[in-house]
Amino acid sequence: MKPISLLDLAAQRERIETDLENRLAAVMAHHRYILGPEVGELEKVLAEKTGMRHAVTCSSGTDALLLALMAKNVGPGDAIFTTPFTFVATAEVIELLGATPVFVDIEIDSFNISADALSAQINRIEAESELKPRGIIAVDLFGLPADYQSINLVADAHDLFVIADAAQSFGGRLDNSPVGGLAEISATSFFPAKPLGCYGDGGAVFTDDDEVASAFTSIRMHGKGTDKYDNIRHGLNARLDTLQAAVLLAKLPIFEDEIAARNRIAEDYSKGLPDVVKTPSVPAKTTSAWAQYSILVDNRDSVIDSLTEAGVPTAIYYPKPLHLQTAYASHKHQPGDFPVSEEASQKIMSLPIHPYLDDDQVHFIINAVIDACSQTGAVC
Ligand SMILES: Cc1ncc(COP(=O)(O)O)c(C=O)c1O
Repeated sequence: MKPISLLDLAAQRERIETDLENRLAAVMAHHRYILGPEVGELEKVLAEKTGMRHAVTCSSGTDALLLALMAKNVGPGDAIFTTPFTFVATAEVIELLGATPVFVDIEIDSFNISADALSAQINRIEAESELKPRGIIAVDLFGLPADYQSINLVADAHDLFVIADAAQSFGGRLDNSPVGGLAEISATSFFPAKPLGCYGDGGAVFTDDDEVASAFTSIRMHGKGTDKYDNIRHGLNARLDTLQAAVLLAKLPIFEDEIAARNRIAEDYSKGLPDVVKTPSVPAKTTSAWAQYSILVDNRDSVIDSLTEAGVPTAIYYPKPLHLQTAYASHKHQPGDFPVSEEASQKIMSLPIHPYLDDDQVHFIINAVIDACSQTGAVC
């Protein structure tokens, strides 16, 4: 059996090698490294894939979120509701603009923001705070789309915008609508380890709104107006490199197949793993992109030690929720403020789920978890 890894970019590269090399050579022949023709070609494919009028590529998933908030003119005094159980970028961009992230706890079954807790938190801020509620950033954690039906209803009731942090979920679906089209604005990441990753940093934002899309193309290029030396707003240098667009174009033809492989592995895990671990649930009519397959287990450290010894790598996303991070200390949160996120942080661990794991490896991993749990007496 091949050694098991968390990611196998070499196997993927072997599969796309000829197309990839041709596309990279084409960029190196035309030398249009910034906003070259591959960027426009990619944006057209991404817009078609998501059914959105506009897909605007950018330099990272973090900048995609920043573009979304900047296009909505978010600034000091604004409250943006989001989850503390996420990668730091989700809240960081809110702080960078001088606005305030207001955390809302998650649901343990999905690891995504709870629509009921969201509603309660918005009511509390409206009643008790000087902050102005402006918007919501829902995160599709581990690739599972958040409950946008409920979240969009809550947002409409309070006149808030919704941004989907779809950094981990590109390729997922909800009610047959693809990720990218589930909220007013969606932001994704093409970081190499994401379901659709390039060979460096990259990202994209999606919207149906022409004005918002035109703000995206302006902000990603220093706030340009009619041309790059006409500056109509403050902006960023946040474009996607042409070479990264070429990499993504080479990967897109195999992407659906890779998502299907991730789903098959997730199904095998969910059927085969022992009852003592809590496996992830996927709501009806929802397809996860399975960026991660995360389980909850007591005795996590011993389970991880046992798996490491057996040659099964694991990861912990995320060991500390954002409200307890030093960078967010000014919000004066205490342990116990978001108990579901805290419990998840203590018990969560992720198993390998890349599309190039073969059946033998998947069954080896399942058996290694069964052994680890029986050796360590793990319970969930
Ligand atoms: C939920 C979430 N949001 C935002 C980001 C930021 O994406 P990037 O690393 O491309 O800036 C990530 C990446 O890890 C993420 O997982």
